[in-house]
Amino acid sequence: MKNLLSMEHLTNEEILYILDRAQAFEQGEPSQLTKTYHVANLFFEPSTRTKTSFEMAERQVGCTVIPFDAGFSSALKGETMYDTVKTLEMIGIDAVVIRAKEDEYYNELLEGINCAVINAGDGAGQHPSQCLLDLYTIRKEFGTFEGLNITIVGDISHSRVAKSNATALKKLGANVRFLCPKDWKGDFEAVHSWEEVLEDSDVIMLLRIQHERHAISKNFSKDSYHDEFGLTAAREKRMKQGAIIMHPAPVNRDVEIADELVECERSRIFTQVRNGVYARMAILETILKGREQTWQSHTSKILNV
Ligand code: NCD
Repeated sequence: MKNLLSMEHLTNEEILYILDRAQAFEQGEPSQLTKTYHVANLFFEPSTRTKTSFEMAERQVGCTVIPFDAGFSSALKGETMYDTVKTLEMIGIDAVVIRAKEDEYYNELLEGINCAVINAGDGAGQHPSQCLLDLYTIRKEFGTFEGLNITIVGDISHSRVAKSNATALKKLGANVRFLCPKDWKGDFEAVHSWEEVLEDSDVIMLLRIQHERHAISKNFSKDSYHDEFGLTAAREKRMKQGAIIMHPAPVNRDVEIADELVECERSRIFTQVRNGVYARMAILETILKGREQTWQSHTSKILNV
């Protein structure tokens, strides 16, 4: 694996390998990397969890984190993504973690860039590291994906989390269903009422409304969305025994989920955040280790170390 761009590019074997390495990290195994790599995190969209989690994971596998502040970078002077990444590569960066608002921004990096590219979210496209931490969370809970009823609820058409999870979970044998307002289903078949999915779901995965990706703001008041599509306390009571609640966060309390459910017994929302560090350690190790055999680190060449 040279880069991590989309869950569509990963085989089941690659996915399961990363989940196994995440588990090994959680159990305290050390990183298999034999060199110190330099990584930069280029976040052109807001982030609390993903950026901090990648930084923690990078340090945990022995990388150095080279600060990059997208809000003060030459991107503001019109520099292209390609020129920004090429510049970092020439400085000696081995891998870049990028979040940007354009779908598939990474296409312009596929030729001419040698450092590894890890997609931390492209517009309404994909969010593979979130997906891998979600998969890790689900496998820890149920031991398998085969035959699980997984319901993804909310702003499906604008959510990169929904798309990445739909791709991967279907490949792994889960039964993925979507519940959303009628015009947010995108290319997916969806239901529009909780009644069809509430009681037999093993996982209910809630999504934030992606207001920043809506051309026209939908006419939902906070309360009407919650009443129709939110996980209310009454609905939680009807969930199957052993079923769990997930959400990639940030959470808008009392919109997609009732405030009191955020840390309830079924909720894995903060566990997902913790699992994210292990999943990202596994992603970094897999990608950087893959390069150890095939590619002499630019850092070694440039800094002569
Ligand atoms: C998600 C994202 O940025 O796509 N958050 C995350 O990375 N944990 C979901 C969201 O913003 O709603």
